[in-house]
Amino acid sequence: MKRSSLDTSTANTALIPALAHIKVHPLSRFQRRAAPFRQPAEVGYFSYDASRSLRVNCDSALKFFHPPPLDGVSNNLSSGFEDSAPIRYIARASVVENLDSLLATLKTTSDSQTSLLTANDRGDGRPRFCTWRGIMTKILTAPYSSDTWELRASLHKGTLYIMEDPLISRASDGFSETDRGKKMTYWGYRFEGLSTLDHDPSTLDPDALHAAEVDRVQTGVVDTHIQFCSVIKTRIGDHDIFMGAEVDCLLPNADASSAKQQPSESTSKPATSPSATSKLRQHRYVELKTHRKIQSQSQNSSFLKQKLFKTYFQCFLAGIPRIIVGFRDDKGFLTKLKEYKTLEIPRMARNELQGEEGGAWDPAVCINFGEQVLSTLWKCLAQRNQELCREGEVEGWQVVYRVRMKNGSASFDGRSAGSQSRGGARGSWRGGASGASGAKSLMSAVNEDAEVVISDGIVGDDELIFVPKDN
Ligand code: A3P
Ligand code: MG
Repeated sequence: MKRSSLDTSTANTALIPALAHIKVHPLSRFQRRAAPFRQPAEVGYFSYDASRSLRVNCDSALKFFHPPPLDGVSNNLSSGFEDSAPIRYIARASVVENLDSLLATLKTTSDSQTSLLTANDRGDGRPRFCTWRGIMTKILTAPYSSDTWELRASLHKGTLYIMEDPLISRASDGFSETDRGKKMTYWGYRFEGLSTLDHDPSTLDPDALHAAEVDRVQTGVVDTHIQFCSVIKTRIGDHDIFMGAEVDCLLPNADASSAKQQPSESTSKPATSPSATSKLRQHRYVELKTHRKIQSQSQNSSFLKQKLFKTYFQCFLAGIPRIIVGFRDDKGFLTKLKEYKTLEIPRMARNELQGEEGGAWDPAVCINFGEQVLSTLWKCLAQRNQELCREGEVEGWQVVYRVRMKNGSASFDGRSAGSQSRGGARGSWRGGASGASGAKSLMSAVNEDAEVVISDGIVGDDELIFVPKDN
């Protein structure tokens, strides 16, 4: 195959022939018992520090949940937003993550001391996927979402790697760039800072705890470079999936406080091995969210159909059992906290949305749709890669396929949709301007022609290829 002459910086994917189309509607095709989903198990983790350096199997960035103040003064989520001396908001430029940190962790993580992605444990011939949790969330929530997205996929040694397309995802939804949007983004991060501590509160004496509580209110810095990510193995249907997922914090537990490695920054031997640590604490992971306080039935419906729907899949996929929502008023003051058990959300949504137009979302539809996308991807790309590599002129990892969600009136490159959302480890969603004004219900925003289009591969250049060949 000849190297493609396609200019990848302006590539119009509509010009590349499609290998497959997966229609979203009618949803009745997916309304059956859900494909088997394997309980996600953490196989490793990593932290990014303030300089964004990667620390494999290090949990220095993992914080402990501690309820935020709700006193009418310290509960101001805007505090620190405009401080300049010292600066209290260090925002990382929004960039699409390649898979490097996930792969680095998988390489060092295995019971047999060799990479989980190498052939030694591949006896079952099962298709494998390696991606970020945010991307799996996009795929699974597509049946009830009007978002558009575009991904890159490459196949190498029996594993299909998927990342978000940076060219497309750089496009902003517009709202995040407004003053209000920037402030609301800060509110979400500030909520994380006001709800967590660096140390397990159950191990601090009352004075130290009080000092930590005062510090987080008065001097706490929001630095979005710092992140803790869990690396997870799960399975949907026949497909093993390795995923990286950001985890916001850990629920303190006096009995199991040693589950965080001590000391995390030093070079001395950790108190527990990474895999033992994972087993001890995965059930204590917590996802934090903010949401505007709910004052009407329609606001409750949109919370259940949008925020909680996507947060459910964000957590379900990563095995995060708890979600703590900080409700706020329009000025950004926290008013209430509410905890949701991830696995109880579908039933809750079904009960509360009963009788409403469109009803509730059905998690089985999402899982079965996701399974169909993975199966089709695997089938098409495995066959096509074999054809393209037959002559030996190119290797599998050099071929890059595009996978895009065509939805509504969005153009092929998705820019007009106004509903880009992040697909990295964070995997959070703000569906266009919905964060600000409460967009129309996603159930009714769904376009009947929505489809996932898998485009034929092109031989990538250095900018396009994202799978390291030595992997
Ligand atoms: P909220 O989701 O509570 O509003 P996450 O919940 O995934 O851990 O993300 C934490 C916060 O990051 C979000 O808080 C929000 O403030 C910000 N964020 C995440 N995705 C975003 C996006 N696509 N646009 C703007 N802000 C985003
Ligand atoms: Mg969060």
